[in-house]
Amino acid sequence: MKLDAAMLGWTEVPTRRGGPTVSTLRPVDAAEAEPNSLSARYGKGAQPLHTDGAHLPHPPDIVVLTCETTSTTPTRLWHRNNRVAGRAQGLPEFVRHGIFLISSGNDSFFAAVSEDRRMRYDPGCMLPCDARARQVVQFFEERERFAEEHHWNEPSQVLLIDNRRVLHARASAAHEPQRELQRLSFHLNREAS
Ligand SMILES: [Fe+2]
Repeated sequence: MKLDAAMLGWTEVPTRRGGPTVSTLRPVDAAEAEPNSLSARYGKGAQPLHTDGAHLPHPPDIVVLTCETTSTTPTRLWHRNNRVAGRAQGLPEFVRHGIFLISSGNDSFFAAVSEDRRMRYDPGCMLPCDARARQVVQFFEERERFAEEHHWNEPSQVLLIDNRRVLHARASAAHEPQRELQRLSFHLNREAS
């Protein structure tokens, strides 16, 4: 996987500043979670739809999840061009205009969810600052029911997520505390993308 990525010109990026580029994801209780992470708020329960690295100035373009074994906790996926009853839903205007405060350690900043044809959204670290941003929060909560589920029902599956266009979420892992996924994140080669 790493070799293929290097050949494509992709660069590995950590999703936590100064952290490792490969992380092992395990369900954790709220009390043991990293501050501002989704686990700090939702623990082992179901996560809301989000993109990874939303607190970073340049979030990863691609997120690769792998599961060596199997897991009974699906990963939920929602694409910005999601179709409902055959019709593309598109993104409403407020997704481009609602402003959020993004907590990123000592360097917090303001941003909209949809900028430069990419999405940044994580209710764990993004605070809505105006009425349109609050509409965005509600919009993604309502979209959750249209998310598709990826089931980890065979060993060694690899799930490649376009973190610019797809939001993802872990279903509740309360029944599966031993669940383990590996995560790698990448920036695409700008010239090639
Ligand atoms: Fe995630």
